[in-house]
Amino acid sequence: MNRVFIKTYGCQMNERDSEQVASSLRDRGYSVVDNEFDADVVLLNTCSVRDQAEQKAIGKAGYLAKRKKTDPNFMIGVMGCMAQNRGSELLERLPDLDLVVGTQRFHAVPDHLDHLVQSYAAQGPRPSSIVDLDEEADSQNTIKDHLPKDNQVRAFVSIMQGCNMNCAFCIVPKTRGSERSRPMEHIVEEIEELAERGVKEVTLLGQIVTSYGRREFPVVGGKSPFVQLIEKVNDIAGIERIRFTSPHPRGFKQDLVEAYRDVPKLCEYVHLPLQAGCNKTLRAMNRPYTKERYREIVESLRAVAPDMYFSTDIIVGFPGETAADFEESAEFFEDIGFDMSYIFKYSIRSGTLAADMNDQVPTGEKERRNQVLLDILSKRSLWRNQQLVGKTEEVLVEGPAKKGDRFTGKTRGYRNALFDGDERLIGQLVQLKVDRATASSIYGDLVLAGVDID
Ligand code: SAH
Ligand code: F3S
Repeated sequence: MNRVFIKTYGCQMNERDSEQVASSLRDRGYSVVDNEFDADVVLLNTCSVRDQAEQKAIGKAGYLAKRKKTDPNFMIGVMGCMAQNRGSELLERLPDLDLVVGTQRFHAVPDHLDHLVQSYAAQGPRPSSIVDLDEEADSQNTIKDHLPKDNQVRAFVSIMQGCNMNCAFCIVPKTRGSERSRPMEHIVEEIEELAERGVKEVTLLGQIVTSYGRREFPVVGGKSPFVQLIEKVNDIAGIERIRFTSPHPRGFKQDLVEAYRDVPKLCEYVHLPLQAGCNKTLRAMNRPYTKERYREIVESLRAVAPDMYFSTDIIVGFPGETAADFEESAEFFEDIGFDMSYIFKYSIRSGTLAADMNDQVPTGEKERRNQVLLDILSKRSLWRNQQLVGKTEEVLVEGPAKKGDRFTGKTRGYRNALFDGDERLIGQLVQLKVDRATASSIYGDLVLAGVDID
């Protein structure tokens, strides 16, 4: 009864939390398997950002529950955001769940599973479900262990939890709680260990990384705690590239802009959520900046790093967004020139400010707006990738591509590169002469010591 499969929905923080749970289960003697059919326990790590994500996980749990009929000892757990958001109400809907664990209690999963395994082994009546949604003051410090993977080149490092903003559409402050930052020295130690294991690129993770440490650590020499942290990571031997996600436009100050000029390992790629390119909608969303301020940040970044790549999150069909508001937003979106974007159709989240707003936008209209932005985005990403044809780009080699026999890696601008490679190049920075580009990838040949290899 010790084979566990973890299925993850949602964002990179969820991926990171799942990794942490997997690692702690392994330490406890469980084996973490890579598919549900070989597992005695399936844990769903869930997302609540949109209704669709919740429905998917609920559907999956319902489907898994059928297996209990033939295999009564099979266990199912729900962890993370939906567990936190819906709590014990989930058990009413899915009475077969054995375990419901919230976002601050991931580290308690091995204890709970041990308990359940023992109860099942005793072969008495079905053990009662465990619901653990407690808040825990220092839960940000419980995320540390990584699952050792062979040849891991890139890693995600959680630097803080929670968010204190109150964006009208967003459920995250409810599911993830208030902002709590990990101490800088813990983060640095964790990254040093990753570097020793061969990791070359780290992405610093948080819901609002620009708020990192702002209550815990002082500003030093005009630099925010977040910029101080980036500089410390830059000093770690073995780490070649630094990224982070997500900053907030409100906290994106000049010290962070200058980091792109002064910190060599910080890559020229930023994911900066816009949400809307129309001031009226931004105000209604409770996003405390204007599109003019957003543009100013973009321009100041392009001034220090002309090749900067921009990625964003944008929502279509927020309540009250008229066709004209959307046009304005779409025009701004095109004008900035995003190289990547997550485009979301607004989804009502009960308990948020926007849930009770009038003038909800019909589904068909949201679809239309979604498509308009997708078209702008695919044109722009193709154009941007085509600019690289004929140029030589630095690529960090990750390994064989999922499909075909090529190798894959990323440029500093987070372009996906495909090329003929070799196992020995994994984890190395190589030069790629680009000869072809699509909206999603660039293709070419490696240039080794100035000589093209066939
Ligand atoms: N600050 C976090 C945001 C988490 S939610 C981060 O950037 O890491 C991720 C994205 O989901 C948000 O930026 C927003 O664009 C989108 N989103 C959040 N709530 C939504 C909702 N109710 N409907 C549609 N999209 C939503
Ligand atoms: Fe959500 Fe806004 Fe925070 S999008 S995570 S409340 S910055």
